[in-house]
Amino acid sequence: MTRPAPKTFHVKSFGCQMNAYDGARMAELLEGQGMAAASGEAADLVVLNTCHIREKAAEKVYSDIGRLKRADGSRPMIAVAGCVAQAEGAEIPRRAPAVDIVVGPQAYHNLPALVAEASQGRRALDTDMPVESKFAHLPRRRAQGASAFLTVQEGCDKFCTYCVVPYTRGAEVSRPWRQIIEEARALADAGAREITLLGQNVNAWEGEDEAGRAQGLDGLIRAIDRIPGIARIRYMTSHPNDMRDGLIAAHAEVASLMPFLHLPVQAGSDRILKAMNRSHTAEGYLRLIERVRAARPDIAISGDFIVGFPGETEADFAQTLALVEQVGHAQAFSFKYSPRPGTPAATMADQVPTAVMDERLQRLQALLSSQALAFNRASEGLVMPVLIERDGKKPGQRLGKSPWLQSVLVDNDVPHGTILDVAIISGGPNSLQGVAAAQKAA
Ligand code: 5AD
Ligand code: SF4
Repeated sequence: MTRPAPKTFHVKSFGCQMNAYDGARMAELLEGQGMAAASGEAADLVVLNTCHIREKAAEKVYSDIGRLKRADGSRPMIAVAGCVAQAEGAEIPRRAPAVDIVVGPQAYHNLPALVAEASQGRRALDTDMPVESKFAHLPRRRAQGASAFLTVQEGCDKFCTYCVVPYTRGAEVSRPWRQIIEEARALADAGAREITLLGQNVNAWEGEDEAGRAQGLDGLIRAIDRIPGIARIRYMTSHPNDMRDGLIAAHAEVASLMPFLHLPVQAGSDRILKAMNRSHTAEGYLRLIERVRAARPDIAISGDFIVGFPGETEADFAQTLALVEQVGHAQAFSFKYSPRPGTPAATMADQVPTAVMDERLQRLQALLSSQALAFNRASEGLVMPVLIERDGKKPGQRLGKSPWLQSVLVDNDVPHGTILDVAIISGGPNSLQGVAAAQKAA
């Protein structure tokens, strides 16, 4: 059965920042086709840009599909994109027949053709991972607000035994230097003041500059630092084994490179790290953090942790807590281990009972929250530059980010994109509150 080509769309992204980036690019692509953004199931086309990292995230898509029903019983055209699309492919419409399109994270430049196919009443599926990059087929970047994401590297060759990413995003690929610099310039022209360079292993980025010289992520950062309008640069997520000297030095030398490092360690026990195939030790990680702090003493450290990896004993877990105590985090994410189909860890012996995982997660999160609160409290009384990104809830209030990625609420109505000196009055568990420093002095 044919149906009218969709005129409006809604993209809903889950999961990591790379998915948020892909969602923004899909929206630009559809706008370029003359479609207009709309909200929720009222849109003619709804793209669910999914995450497969843990079971809960992956299962969510099916309940979301069920909810995409309008009051009159009709449904929008439904596209499932992202990592669940890649991992489950044709299985998705078998389980959820309302799905019209399945498109993987390396194939979404084909979305307009897939939409045309679905309009002809055919189910459209594309989970190819073409050698030729999707980036060559995407339109120029548009206004994104004060802070924008830019994917520079995708995929993973590390094969941590718990992780689906090498299967859903494919092998490690670095985007070419020129393409990245051009995209960064387009973002700056569109008003971005901050760029966050994204990659599953962003610090593994490598390439050649315009002169044909070999460069790493630090070279790319230094080149983006020279683009007029760009005041702040961040990058995530990094792998400890790819944290090279040049990048550490850049933290000491490049003023626009923000003092924040998201460097997941996952666990504090060498036995568990080995079973995870992390190929670094807890001690190696701690030494690395010391070197980064020597280069940039005020750097805020963030990370990811998994509790209850198969075989994790109470003694192993105690070593995770000990590592967290030693590092002192500004913030961190922690998760219960979730067995993922097709990964080596899913079939390992000694899977940890849920109740044990729950209890360990609670203890870890209590420690991490107390560290985050201590970090935010230590900001009280400081004056810091805050990049204003959006309106706060109350009139005249703005929300922005500190150099250390803390959310800052300011009672001031300066335009978005302003970097405002803010005197911090109070620091809570999740955010800081302050007033414009000039206002305070007056
Ligand atoms: N179970 C739980 N957490 C996971 N992560 C990745 N795979 C799994 C899994 N199978 C976590 C890791 C990673 C973050 C993005 O998600 O901590 O760094
Ligand atoms: Fe989720 Fe990983 Fe895919 Fe990001 S790359 S959406 S975290 S599965």
